[in-house]
Amino acid sequence: MISNKTILIAGASSGIGRQVALLLSQHNNRLIISARRQPELETLAREIQANGSQALAIPCDALSQQQAQDCIKQSIAELKTIDIALLNIGDGPAFNMSKASVDEINHNTQLNYGTQVNFLVPLIAQMKQQGFGLIAHTNSLAGFLGLPMQGPYSAAKAAGRILMDSCRIELEPFGLKFVSIYPGFVATERVQGDGIPSPFEISEMDAAKHVIRALEKEKADYLFPFMTASLIRLARVLPKSLTNKLLAKSVPADY
Ligand SMILES: NC(=O)c1ccc[n+]([C@@H]2O[C@H](COP(=O)([O-])OP(=O)(O)OC[C@H]3O[C@@H](n4cnc5c(N)ncnc54)[C@H](OP(=O)(O)O)[C@@H]3O)[C@@H](O)[C@H]2O)c1
Repeated sequence: MISNKTILIAGASSGIGRQVALLLSQHNNRLIISARRQPELETLAREIQANGSQALAIPCDALSQQQAQDCIKQSIAELKTIDIALLNIGDGPAFNMSKASVDEINHNTQLNYGTQVNFLVPLIAQMKQQGFGLIAHTNSLAGFLGLPMQGPYSAAKAAGRILMDSCRIELEPFGLKFVSIYPGFVATERVQGDGIPSPFEISEMDAAKHVIRALEKEKADYLFPFMTASLIRLARVLPKSLTNKLLAKSVPADY
């Protein structure tokens, strides 16, 4: 059980990040919660405090390098160290590659990969100085394959996966740990009605429990749920022509 830790959650105002914050707040932690929507953060901070944990809400647009850096600075000024950081910001709307604009694709890359980098760099500096710390990233099973309707998102999450792999090798000797978390489909408000088929979808609460288990286990890669993770593992070893034929069946005829 994770208790008495200082934990930053970037992307805490809704969905999986919010639920993770609430579960962790039941075990006497100090939670730094960040996202753009201040009212949602303030409501969450009150719920965290009601559960007996400390809450520090820091509104921030993580597309801005400066704001992400300032978020870490303010966290350290108020709480001295960060034990665990969960980089949870991301969005994977349906993309049709014959209709998507370059700007839309670049924005999605920035949101899923750029925000990770904007937090990762100051966090590494801080944790290297501390001599300890765990950085986790909410990636996606979509980050293992180029999925149809998910191209830019798959690509950005794949970049995030590779970056974490490099960090792990370079920085573990300095006491830092890196955990990549790969959810399948999770029924959060954001994905309702996005038009993407979602087999084996799990609840927000189940996803949050998996995320916390991943933080506790400190395994490099944590994939869930079992069925979707198994299909992705299988798809990666099948011949690409066969995988592509199977994946093509998930695209609606009128897409
Ligand atoms: N739901 C799924 O099926 C699923 C599956 C696999 C992976 N994931 C991953 O899980 C993570 C959470 O997804 P979710 O479904 O829980 O979605 P969500 O509810 O939309 O959570 C995303 C969080 O990121 C924050 N955020 C977005 N843009 C931001 C920005 N520019 N600066 C700072 N914060 C920003 C949002 O808050 P504000 O809007 O207040 O900024 C929100 O707190 C994402 O990385 C997603 O890719 C989700």
